[in-house]
Formats: sequence, structure tokens, C-alpha cells
Amino acid sequence: MADVPNRDSTPEKPRKVKYRKAKASWNPAMQAVPVSGIRRLVNMAATMKDVIHLSIGQPDQPTPRHIVDAYIDALNAGQTGYTMDAGLPELLVALRDYYGRRYNRKLTRDNILITSGATEAMYLALSATSAPGRQFIVTDPSFLLYAPLIRMNGGEVKYVPTRAENQHQLDPDEVIRAMGPRTFALVLNNPNNPTGAVYPRSTVETILEECAYRGIQVYADEVYDHLIFDDDDFASVLNCSVDLDNIMCISSFSKTYSMAGLRVGWVISSQAAIKSLRRYHMFTTSVANTPAQYAGVAALTGDQQCVRDMVNVYRERRDKVVELIDQTPYLTGYKPGGAFFAFPDLPPNVDGSDLALRMLKETGVCVVPGDAFGEACTNALRISFSTTCERLEDAFDRIIPWMAKQPF
Ligand SMILES: Cc1ncc(COP(=O)(O)O)c(C=O)c1O
Repeated sequence: MADVPNRDSTPEKPRKVKYRKAKASWNPAMQAVPVSGIRRLVNMAATMKDVIHLSIGQPDQPTPRHIVDAYIDALNAGQTGYTMDAGLPELLVALRDYYGRRYNRKLTRDNILITSGATEAMYLALSATSAPGRQFIVTDPSFLLYAPLIRMNGGEVKYVPTRAENQHQLDPDEVIRAMGPRTFALVLNNPNNPTGAVYPRSTVETILEECAYRGIQVYADEVYDHLIFDDDDFASVLNCSVDLDNIMCISSFSKTYSMAGLRVGWVISSQAAIKSLRRYHMFTTSVANTPAQYAGVAALTGDQQCVRDMVNVYRERRDKVVELIDQTPYLTGYKPGGAFFAFPDLPPNVDGSDLALRMLKETGVCVVPGDAFGEACTNALRISFSTTCERLEDAFDRIIPWMAKQPF
């Protein structure tokens, strides 16, 4: 304490008070939040001119006009208060109907909770269930949110690796072999960030069947479920499982409709699970952004041609990036089926983090090293194609001759 009041009544000469700097006393759980592997790169890129970013994790295409208009209309109509805790009723209905059509899944409004993006949904799901003694199976590499949220709350992460030579497909037998008496849950991100892998129906069904049999929870992150390039059939957990008792399906408007900054996502699960998550949600963000929820209604109920157009643009870029990676010395690529990322390998034992830093310094192209996403892919790079084909070509015009000079 800095200032102790006088306890006796003797008047005292005013003294110079020494203030001791309080020590930061973070909850030790904060140690599970890693220092971002991307930070050094982004800091350096910010000091440089003429950087080409292939590090972007959000859509670069504009939000469709009718969605922006719905947001503005909601503001103008005075929709600036809180919504119901589960979310705007019109949005719950729109999502119920949308999932009924898209995945043939019968839901009620009580199966859905609207959150501030998929990030809050994942935060609620993982932090409400992670606990000491519970093991969570996560793919390696995986989106960087999952492992820290599990570890912060005492849970243990068990990684199941995926590999570039298998197009980063998940081997259901390997997942099942990883399940043991302490396995509590599995996090399934399909399509996958950072690999762009899309898991086929047979993989998802086999894994879900085993999880249901063993009573293992499944947290499915499906934020890229529209950004698929080669298949007509996307195997959502919502149409691969009989009931929702052990399933939480998480998604958002961020990627499909280029609405990342509007921050609206959701969890779909059993009514009992949603009831508990609703209670927790009240103590975190309370409700999602209100005008953005109106924009979400417009997104779901409006013409879906805008989504098809965006997917066609991403597909063209995917094809371009696959071709460019193929022409790059020392990069081994594959064809990612979804999202907007490629995750090619460097030769074994090459430190991707060191290489990405030198690449940025010497060519001005910014990519994300594999170690930002786990432990098994330190020799990989994540290359985002959320940028134009022209920018991709400009970037590889720099990368290809530079890579040819590397002494591997
Ligand atoms: C796999 C994955 N899940 C969740 C998110 C977060 O999405 P939101 O913007 O809805 O919070 C992202 C964003 O990059 C992501 O790549």
C-alpha cells in the first residue's frame, strides 16, 4: 500500500511519500496465452515500405451492399440497444431456417446462441468445459485460438498431426488411436485454417460415430463452410451426426459474407447446452452487436449469388497460388480444398520462422511461419490468398528468385 494514514493525532510534518511500483500479478493461466509468432513479422512489416502481405486472415472482398445497407438501416431505425441474451429473435429464426435448408437439420431457436463472432463462441465452449484431467484432441497445425483456451483452463491438449504429403487430410484411424480414458473432447476445424484442408464425409462420420460411442464432446469450427472449391457436398457435423448431445457447431458471418469486423457468430448445440452457454454469455459479452445482427438477417435471407461470386474469386486465386508454389524452389505444396490458405512445406529442418523473417526483410513479402499454429509444422509457411491474383504474382516474382538462392 502506498499511503498509510496517520494513526495518532500528533500533527506530522508533511513527508515525501515513496510509491512502490506494484508488481503485475496476472493469473498464472495467462502463461498459456502464447507470444504470437506473427508479432515480430507484423512489427517489422509496419516499419517497411512496399510490403506484400500474404499473411491476411480475413476476407479482402467487400461486404455485399445489401448487408451494409441493412446495418445502416438498423442504426437509422434506432436499433442501438441490447438484444435478447440468446440473440436477435429474427436472426435466430433466420439461422434455424438456413441450417434446415443447407444441412437438412431440424433446429429450434433454442438450439442457437448468437455470439460476438466465432471467437466468442469458441471461448465460451472451450473455457466452460476445459478443466484439469480433461484431454482435448486438436489437429497440429490448428487455428491458434484452441490450445491456449484449453490450457488456460487446466485442460490438456493432445495433438494429432496432419501432413503436407497427405494434403493435410485427417486420418480418422489416427484420431481414434489418440482417444484414451482421459479424452474429453475433440476440436474439429473443417475447412481448416491454416491448411485449407476440407475433410470428406467419410472422415467426419467415422470420427463422430466414435466420439458419440465414447461420449467425447465435439467442438466443430465451421467458419469456412462456404469457402470450398472442389466439392458440392460439405460434411458439416450438423448433417453427419444423429443428435446434438455431444456436438457444438460454431460458425459466423465473418468469412462467408466478408463481415469479420461486424463480429457476429453463433453456437449450435442441444437445448440444454445452449441454456448453460447463454448464462455464461451474459457474463462475458452479454450480447452481440445489434445492428450487425440485423445485417446478418439480411445476409441469410438475401440473394446468395454474392457468396457464389466470392467463392469463384477465391477458387481462381487458389488455382493461381497452387501454380506459383509449384514453381517455387524448396516449397512442397498441395491443393487446398477450402478457406483461403495454402500451407506448403520447406525442406525438413528448415526453420520456417527464421525463413519468413528473412523473406520479409529481403523481399518485402510477409507470410506466416508454421510454428504459429502448433508444434509439428515448424518447416511450413502459411500463404494467404485473400488478395488479388496480381498481388500473388507480384509476391512470387520476388519469392521465386530469392528462394532459388537459399543454401538448403
Ligand atoms: C478457423 C477459424 N475459426 C474462427 C475464427 C474467428 O472468426 P470470427 O471472426 O467469427 O471470430 C477464424 C478467424 O480467422 C478462423 O480462421
